[in-house]
Amino acid sequence: MTAPIISGKQVSEEIRAGLRAEVEALVKQGLTPGLAVILVGEDPASQVYVRNKEKACHDLGYYSEVHRLAASTSQEELLALVDKLNRQANIHGILVQLPLPRHIDEKSVIDAIAVEKDVDGFHPVNVGNLVIGDDSLLPCTPAGVIELIKRTGIEMSGKHAVVIGRSNIVGKPVSLLLQRENATVTMCHSRTANMKELTKQADILVVAIGKANFVDASYVKPGAVVIDVGMNRLDNGKLAGDVDFESVKGVSGPITPVPGGVGPMTITMLMNNTLIAAKRLGG
Ligand code: GUN
Repeated sequence: MTAPIISGKQVSEEIRAGLRAEVEALVKQGLTPGLAVILVGEDPASQVYVRNKEKACHDLGYYSEVHRLAASTSQEELLALVDKLNRQANIHGILVQLPLPRHIDEKSVIDAIAVEKDVDGFHPVNVGNLVIGDDSLLPCTPAGVIELIKRTGIEMSGKHAVVIGRSNIVGKPVSLLLQRENATVTMCHSRTANMKELTKQADILVVAIGKANFVDASYVKPGAVVIDVGMNRLDNGKLAGDVDFESVKGVSGPITPVPGGVGPMTITMLMNNTLIAAKRLGG
């Protein structure tokens, strides 16, 4: 038997249809949600991500500004642009594409973004609110993982969720959001001893370790839900997740593919955050 596939592409399209309708109504009332994206340098993957964000804005009726800056841009120049966007009334969300060139201190830049415009959810105040469980702008990929599980009709309450990976962008926040959904959460990472003993207990396994095809069937309890957050570019140019899909789908329950799983949800949640920010800030 093969596991059902969770289509992030399809769920994402459903959510986007709702966003498009809500934005259309807001625009009629005189409020157009606006997103500013800053890209410093010419990293090819970042260029693709930024183009996709720009496209999503156009498709859904948002106002979009993309600031493409030279790799030689100084930290002061970048901070001056962030400050300008913080004060710009038609911009409700600001995203600085990471990674930044090495001469720029990432933390100083993230800290400079207005908390209420931080649609990445990376500002320490938003991270703190996430930990406390207060209302905040949630980081996009973790929020997308939770939304995907929910909309597939999978119950999280009382389940044992195991997260592989402890990054600030995915592993840590997704573990907090799973706890918020009343799951019992175990964190694994590159130094975890006997990882398989833990992952084989998971009802829900979220993999964000950044290693292509790391998880095979031997890590997975029969019937477990498997969410693959990995996006690894192989030498042959193909995209691979952190989960060996062909091996795991033989034992798991519902499973996300790569591409077409978590990936499409990330930009959709960015659009959702921008709409939330616009409604809070107004014109
Ligand atoms: N680079 C890779 N993923 C992300 C993300 O989620 N946000 C930003 N700002 N940069 C990224």
